[in-house]
Amino acid sequence: MQTLIPMGLLGLGHYVPETRLTNADLEKMVDTTDDWIVQRTGIRERRIAAKDLDTSRIGILAAQRAIADAGIDPAEIDLVICCTVTGDQVFPATACRIGKEIGAVRAGGFDVAAACSGFVFGSQIAAGFIRSGVYKTVLVVGAEILSRIVDYTDRNTCVLFGDGAGAAIYTSHDRAKRGEFLGGSIQMEGASEDVLAVPGGGSRHPASHASVDQRLHFMKMGGTKVFRFAVRVFAELVQRVVDQYGLDEIGVIIPHQVNQRIIESAMDSLGLPMDLVYSNIERFGNTSAASVPIALSEAVAAGRLKKGKLAVMPAFGAGLAWGHIVLRW
Ligand code: UT7
Repeated sequence: MQTLIPMGLLGLGHYVPETRLTNADLEKMVDTTDDWIVQRTGIRERRIAAKDLDTSRIGILAAQRAIADAGIDPAEIDLVICCTVTGDQVFPATACRIGKEIGAVRAGGFDVAAACSGFVFGSQIAAGFIRSGVYKTVLVVGAEILSRIVDYTDRNTCVLFGDGAGAAIYTSHDRAKRGEFLGGSIQMEGASEDVLAVPGGGSRHPASHASVDQRLHFMKMGGTKVFRFAVRVFAELVQRVVDQYGLDEIGVIIPHQVNQRIIESAMDSLGLPMDLVYSNIERFGNTSAASVPIALSEAVAAGRLKKGKLAVMPAFGAGLAWGHIVLRW
């Protein structure tokens, strides 16, 4: 069997738009209260992209920060993967625009549509290419402008989501600056569009006057089903890492920033303390594929990753799909 090449991290970066949408702002838009939102979700504000920003642009800003952090020439990048469900348009891939604008002149690129699990899945794809020796340097961007698909007349969803982008550059471990990528998982339960979906705009319900009238181009969600699913798989994924490596090895858990109550319920069911978790949901809400790389980038800057210890990143969302990645710092 072919020996796998070890992989690590070369650079990280993130970008969030300046405009803040606070709970007080939402109180003026739908029938909700700051108290309800904070108690049920832990969110106080989210960032919203200005009209002149598209997903590739915020992805580019995050990628440029990751390139500066890595200290590489963008021409060294072999592959650009953009994880998003709010790409600039149906095609071409948003990754192609990002690659061109950052100067990744040799790279190939494509998008990964795995919603909130996007960055974790994109990182696994990068690992496949790097660990098999096909590519040396891969840029994985998680970028979302969810405010363009959120229905701001639906209080069940509009309080949860925000915009942002995070980026990671992976390379073979001999060239990596930090962290060894140890692997993870990718799983799915089959399409469950009644649970979490944007029904319109694809081949099932192409754009039409009727699809617009029925608001099919906005996100629909069965919140309670997602809640139960997320608590269950979050706990399963972390338990798997505990079984494989031992609890003492875990330095930090950086989960998909879904809802503070989901994170607390899962940690409680595992009997683990919340101080193991890095959370920024209070400030950014749920940014889908961008949430893990933004949180990872922030956690590293805050010194939350401990040398020699594991950083565990579980993610879960539409599909239903879920998975995790593990880095040894
Ligand atoms: O990355 C995955 C993306 N999905 C998610 O992150 C969603 C996961 N789910 C959740 O976060 C939670 O299910 C929610 C925060 C969406 C809802 O919390 P919940 O504790 O499950 O509330 P619920 O859906 O059981 O609703 C309880 C009540 C309902 O009123 P009635 O029917 O009891 O009168 C809702 O209509 O709360 C109402 N409600 C609200 N009230 C004030 C729902 N949204 C709001 C709101 N403000 N924004």
